[in-house]
Amino acid sequence: MTDKPSYLGLLNAIAIAETRAHKYLCAWADVTRSDEVRAVLRKVAAREGEHAMSFAKRINELGYDVRRKEDEDDDTAIALVTSDCSDLEKMEALKLHRLDRGDKPDIFDDFFKDHSIDIATGELLGRYIAEERDTGRLLRQCYEQLRRTAPGGSPAVADDRLASLERKFDALYSTVNELRDAIPGPAPEPNGSRAKARTK
Ligand SMILES: [Fe+2]
Repeated sequence: MTDKPSYLGLLNAIAIAETRAHKYLCAWADVTRSDEVRAVLRKVAAREGEHAMSFAKRINELGYDVRRKEDEDDDTAIALVTSDCSDLEKMEALKLHRLDRGDKPDIFDDFFKDHSIDIATGELLGRYIAEERDTGRLLRQCYEQLRRTAPGGSPAVADDRLASLERKFDALYSTVNELRDAIPGPAPEPNGSRAKARTK
């Protein structure tokens, strides 16, 4: 019988996805020429970075450390957001405009199906979910504004370059997709404090 929390894989997946999102959103904010887009990206990046640290902290408090995958690839997302694609193209390639599900079910609906989640982790997850949904709304509004102001009235850009980028990023860089792929994710390894506690 193990006392290892069943939801460690979920916490790990969130910590990794939020770290990655924080990195590419910051890189994108540094190069966008739109003040409005930069404001949205910086707001969301700040949330993502805080989520990454808070979940890593919670995993540590539970006696484990974040476990990162060896094949993690942050460079592809950074290459996209720092490319000469427009903000609209980047948003579509990353599918950030599709995170907001409105009143329809989303990936977060399943998080609390695990009834063993402890109080502190539940508190953290609850705030995280509300913030992610608000982020989804912010990004969708930003996307709609970009479409309205895009040259030619704008519809979805569909050149070969974007199509290939979309294929590349389809499963890779949507936070929601990453979480879906990662549940149950790799559980973190026990950290030193836990190993010590076990040997007592
Ligand atoms: Fe996120």
